[in-house]
Amino acid sequence: MTTTLPQIALVGTGNMSGAILQGLLQPGVKVAGLRATTRGAASAEALVQRGVSAVSLEQDPDANRQAVADAEIIVLGVKPYQILEVLTDLVEHARPEATVVSVAAGITLASMEDIWPGALVRAMPNTPAQVGRGVTGLARGSRTSDTQAAMVEALFSTVGEVLVVKEDQINALSSISGSGPAYVYLFIEHFMEVARQKGFTEHQARVMVEGTFSGALAVLAQSDKNPEQLRVEVTSPGGSTAAALQAFEDADLEAIFAAASDAAIARAEEMSRE
Ligand SMILES: NC(=O)c1ccc[n+]([C@@H]2O[C@H](COP(=O)([O-])OP(=O)(O)OC[C@H]3O[C@@H](n4cnc5c(N)ncnc54)[C@H](OP(=O)(O)O)[C@@H]3O)[C@@H](O)[C@H]2O)c1
Repeated sequence: MTTTLPQIALVGTGNMSGAILQGLLQPGVKVAGLRATTRGAASAEALVQRGVSAVSLEQDPDANRQAVADAEIIVLGVKPYQILEVLTDLVEHARPEATVVSVAAGITLASMEDIWPGALVRAMPNTPAQVGRGVTGLARGSRTSDTQAAMVEALFSTVGEVLVVKEDQINALSSISGSGPAYVYLFIEHFMEVARQKGFTEHQARVMVEGTFSGALAVLAQSDKNPEQLRVEVTSPGGSTAAALQAFEDADLEAIFAAASDAAIARAEEMSRE
């Protein structure tokens, strides 16, 4: 399937917008035009080496303004504390019908709508977007049309799954899928440590743990059954897996997940106020 997208400007192209860029450069994606900016000349040069039209502020202080001049979608990929300042600088130079997309954590649509009079979308992607397996939550602003929202949905679909949510769910979504990759790496770290303590080598531990996570997820993805059904199927009553699962239950794993999500939400809310 081919995805067709209009002229795009990536303002600030580091980890997150770099992942989006990766999606846009896929063979099945046709973009009318793409311009990227960075702060430093070296990071822009690295993008140019990949065939991207990229200019840094170091090379040209007007780089952001020029990049957005003919863009229909403007993705702000700078750090959260820079968003409002960068947006203010672009207002006079962007097309009024352009849709501005922010991937910044904690910067509200209302604060951006105070500056940008047109369409806005707040996006919360996660890092597996780097390999086209991201999960992105999208919340649209009050002046964003269905067509503009669909265009942004198509953009993020190039790097994985998209969920359209209300803005008041963005922090909660972020506490699950945004921060989620870090939780998964933490489980894998602990699980591997246990394997090493049982005498397995680093390589053996990684094969066992990584293979088990990816294998179990592959079964889940291909199955019509839900995770609970699959868990019950591999757990013989009174068996060793049942004994292990009881240890997780005794530690109240569900409460740990809830506490982790709540902590992430509380911190995100705190950061929005800072
Ligand atoms: N990383 C994540 O997991 C994740 C997930 C969801 C959302 N986000 C959001 O993504 C945004 C970017 O995070 P990141 O991790 O991608 O940061 P990053 O790797 O540091 O990227 C920031 C980019 O912005 C450029 N830049 C800095 N100031 C600029 C300016 N005034 N004009 C134009 N470009 C400028 C930087 O250029 P130089 O490299 O040359 O300095 C770099 O290309 C943040 O708002 C964050 O909240 C990140």
